[in-house]
Amino acid sequence: MDTYQTILSLRSVRQFDLSRPIDEATLQRIVQAGRMSGSSKDSQPWWFIVVTDRATLAALSRTGDYAQHLAGAAFALAIVFDPKFYRGEFDSGRTAQNMMLAAWNEGIGSCIASIHHEDDGKAVLGVPGELRLQHIISFGYPLPGKQSISAAPKRARKPLDEIVMKERWSKR
Ligand SMILES: Cc1cc2nc3c(=O)[nH]c(=O)nc-3n(C[C@H](O)[C@H](O)[C@H](O)COP(=O)(O)O)c2cc1C
Repeated sequence: MDTYQTILSLRSVRQFDLSRPIDEATLQRIVQAGRMSGSSKDSQPWWFIVVTDRATLAALSRTGDYAQHLAGAAFALAIVFDPKFYRGEFDSGRTAQNMMLAAWNEGIGSCIASIHHEDDGKAVLGVPGELRLQHIISFGYPLPGKQSISAAPKRARKPLDEIVMKERWSKR
């Protein structure tokens, strides 16, 4: 897919077709897209935990208030970052988007889960206390007919003239 179309057509997918396994090479392409992200001072303050075990996915789905989709994912990527690095949160957001776009380019859908009960999530995965686990992303081929992956123009977004200004702040 053309890069711009991949970006514009990316939608959250929360229901996955588990009859279609994701091969190891594809999974590696996705994590490689995360690894290659830029970061502040090239600190690369992130780690990615690949989760395929169904019991672990189910346990993780209970660590966020809207994380149910993790239970039905083909795999999940937990994004762990080190808060002692400057801008670790922003940097790990970039890796998340890169991995979601790389997956979508292969036809694989994804959705972010916010981990509201972070200590519970860290306990499930054995993440050290000083590190942060704010988001886990579910991945899988979309379950046909179960979600609207609508065309780009239909996406509900603020109009450009509401969010773009020229030269300096010009909103009241
Ligand atoms: C930081 C962040 C946290 C999110 N957390 C959740 C979540 O906990 N559960 C969920 O179902 N979706 C979550 N989402 C997905 C958003 O709800 C979704 O991206 C937004 O509604 C726009 O829909 P779209 O991705 O289909 O365009 C999150 C997205 C972001 C960027």
